[in-house]
Amino acid sequence: MDIPQKRGPDAPPSLIPSSGFIIGFVAFILIASFVVFYLASSRIIPVLPEVASTQAVNTDNLFYILLGVGGIVFFLVQGLLLYSVIRFRARPNDLSDGPNIHGNPTLEIVWTIIPAVVVVAISGLSVVVWTTNNSPRENENFINGQPVKIETIGARFAWSFQYHTGQTNANGDPIILSLPELHTYVGMNVKLDMYSDDVIHSFWIPEMRVKQDVMPNKVSEIRFTPISTASGYAYAFEYPQNAPLGASVSVPLERRNDPNIANRFNRYQVVCTELCGGGHGQMYTDIVVHDSETSFLTWYNAQVESRRNPPADPVLLGDQVLRSGEYPCASCHVLTTLGWQGITGPSLDGIGDRAGTRATQAGVGDESGADYLVHSIREPHSWLVPGYGAAMPIFSDDPSVSEAGVNYMPDEDVIGIVAYLCTQTGTGVATDSTCGIEFADNGLPIDVDATIEMLSGYEDKYSSVPDS
Ligand code: CUA
Repeated sequence: MDIPQKRGPDAPPSLIPSSGFIIGFVAFILIASFVVFYLASSRIIPVLPEVASTQAVNTDNLFYILLGVGGIVFFLVQGLLLYSVIRFRARPNDLSDGPNIHGNPTLEIVWTIIPAVVVVAISGLSVVVWTTNNSPRENENFINGQPVKIETIGARFAWSFQYHTGQTNANGDPIILSLPELHTYVGMNVKLDMYSDDVIHSFWIPEMRVKQDVMPNKVSEIRFTPISTASGYAYAFEYPQNAPLGASVSVPLERRNDPNIANRFNRYQVVCTELCGGGHGQMYTDIVVHDSETSFLTWYNAQVESRRNPPADPVLLGDQVLRSGEYPCASCHVLTTLGWQGITGPSLDGIGDRAGTRATQAGVGDESGADYLVHSIREPHSWLVPGYGAAMPIFSDDPSVSEAGVNYMPDEDVIGIVAYLCTQTGTGVATDSTCGIEFADNGLPIDVDATIEMLSGYEDKYSSVPDS
């Protein structure tokens, strides 16, 4: 049976456009995609953050190539779409079907082969960039002519960095700088060995274009080489000579390009980019890029020296250690004296006269408040403050233990930290401490040797091996 077809007044337009149109269309695609490529790659329109590492240069070049190729495809497809919509639109009163086109093997082969070639080329290029960025380079982490292992530890909700300096202190213990910030310098071939203390985190420095998951029980690596940057001086700071640990002084704006400033560095943010719990949004720190190896070494060697010759008084040592941010205590605990505002762990305000009560409460044989505090650092999970989970990492006295949930803390740091915490009474006066240490009016122990001996005795009680 015949279906009657209504014919419109116009004949259907030819499927093949004129050669002038084709030339114009191709020119439009090439010019438009080049303009997009040019605006982005010349940073006239900065679609990517600052370029702060050699890896960032490689990654960005790949991105701009993808942007150019993507631009060609985008303008080709959208252009043809727009062209078809206008040219082949239904004319008024035309209710007819379109012409019945059936297959075109040449066209199909062409539009399969071209994208296939493009995709394979892009994959090949990506592999080249990836291997270039991740291959070992010469003199990785060379500091003072020695390779230094830099461990990066993610823990809810803080980053910490441990520099295994290869040097030892007066007791023969290895000096490990444990820092809340990552220090590097321009041209340093950085390699980080990363693992997590608890859940999966992800280490990301946008300006360096490096991003890598950080997992418990698995070491992942990341490599990058910071380069000098034009806009970095906005973050210039300098460390004064012989400054206490962690102290830095902001350089006034007008002096930021002064070549005589020896210790100058730029900062970028290190962020966690894997949702890891309630404090994920607070899990960020800085990477400090010194503008020269000399500036970096001034800072680094001062840090090592301060670890080699720590103050003899344990309270002063504990004060220094805690203020340096070597250990991530501040991210979980409140301690108003030091400005800590963490909330995932119990508050340490007034712990100097509360620890004694806790020792009895815990019922795990702690002899005194000081014993309880040592116990809580070495074996934090053996008794938990009611209302808090087993979230605190174990601080082991064994530097060789490197596993999830275990950080290294040398004996003298535990002694110093506990002595310092014992001074933190509810009244703010150390003499009110009920910890088991006797303090003088100046807030320091009356008998330093006896205090150290007592705390060492407690320290020896705990194995510090992770309870399985
Ligand atoms: Cu760690 Cu998010």
